Amino acid sequence: MAPKELKEKVNKVLQKHQYDKSLLVDILQDIQSESGYLPKEALVETSEGLGIPLSRVYSVATFFKAFSLKPRGRHIINVCMGTACHVRGAVKVLEKIEQELGVKTGETTPDLKYTLETVNCVGACALGPMIIIGEDYHGEMTPEAISSMLKNYN
Ligand code: FES
Repeated sequence: MAPKELKEKVNKVLQKHQYDKSLLVDILQDIQSESGYLPKEALVETSEGLGIPLSRVYSVATFFKAFSLKPRGRHIINVCMGTACHVRGAVKVLEKIEQELGVKTGETTPDLKYTLETVNCVGACALGPMIIIGEDYHGEMTPEAISSMLKNYN
């Protein structure tokens, strides 16, 4: 996103929240949903707009797991690594996804299509290994099924 465009977006969000410093978390949430993540420039703009130290904006942005300071993919893949999924072969499934996408857990593909993450138990242990892509739950996954499953996502 161009710097000017980003600046405008941030200012719109700040206006919406009437430059209220106490709404910093909501402000960052809105910026992230607009931009997909929290670019450094957006944090600087927020700090200047609200008149609060950049260090405070950073500490909030890094405290909450829901915020990301790095670009994230259009599709977030979560592989369940809870005990039940683990014993049913989640490690092999995760390795296969890493191999298919050419990224490690926690990384995003260069085309910003996928971000690969792990979670612990999503409450569907009987169907493990579980993979969650966005809102979709995929149960009883095998390394062999990964390729064709990924083809369903654009
Ligand atoms: S351990 Fe994976 S769903 Fe429970």
